[in-house]
Amino acid sequence: MTSENSTPVQSFDMLVHEMFATGWFEPLLFAVLLLAGLSILFYTLRTGVPPMPSNPMARGAMFRLIPGGAQPKTIYELGCGWGGIAFALAARFPDARVIAIELSPLPWAVCHVRRLFQPRPNLEIRRGDFLRTDLSGGDLLFCYLMVAPMTALERKLSAELRPGALVIANSFALPGWVPEKTEVVTEASYANIYRYRAPGR
Ligand SMILES: C[S@@+](CC[C@H](N)C(=O)[O-])C[C@H]1O[C@@H](n2cnc3c(N)ncnc32)[C@H](O)[C@@H]1O
Repeated sequence: MTSENSTPVQSFDMLVHEMFATGWFEPLLFAVLLLAGLSILFYTLRTGVPPMPSNPMARGAMFRLIPGGAQPKTIYELGCGWGGIAFALAARFPDARVIAIELSPLPWAVCHVRRLFQPRPNLEIRRGDFLRTDLSGGDLLFCYLMVAPMTALERKLSAELRPGALVIANSFALPGWVPEKTEVVTEASYANIYRYRAPGR
């Protein structure tokens, strides 16, 4: 049992110890992992995209494709997953507002926990569907999705973005837009990284 005089760490320690002793720990851990797995699976089926992070080489290429001297005011990370790119964007552009959108609850929650250890005052982490979010204020948008969502995204971006806004996409192209620059990543795995400018409406 936890005692009134024990510190929070001691109380947690005693709680875990007690759970081991009473045989609750393993079933509880199993239930938590099962729920986490089911949640990931459900949202992967719903969005058609697993929360797989961009590999470090691809991420490097995405950042290299940001034009030198760019000073975006509003940046969107569309489907931010576990937050790797969103946190890096917020650090790279401290004067910009970085909005990271994620539908899958577990990666979204991990981003919030991550922020406790990596404070980023200019980073907003939103749980939601970016296809239902007004993206018209975006100056720079990052995405790493799949073929099917890119078609829906292209329709939305064509209707909403101001001409000239930058879109940087890992691996999957916007099918009807012509990239102004492409970088091919060959290390680790082969990927094309595309940079687009939103066309005039
Ligand atoms: C392949 S991961 C990429 C993660 C991160 N952007 C990166 O490059 O490291 C794509 C993420 O987009 C999320 N996603 C897909 N469609 C979405 C939507 N319509 N709204 C919000 N998030 C979405 C998925 O849940 C997944 O976590």
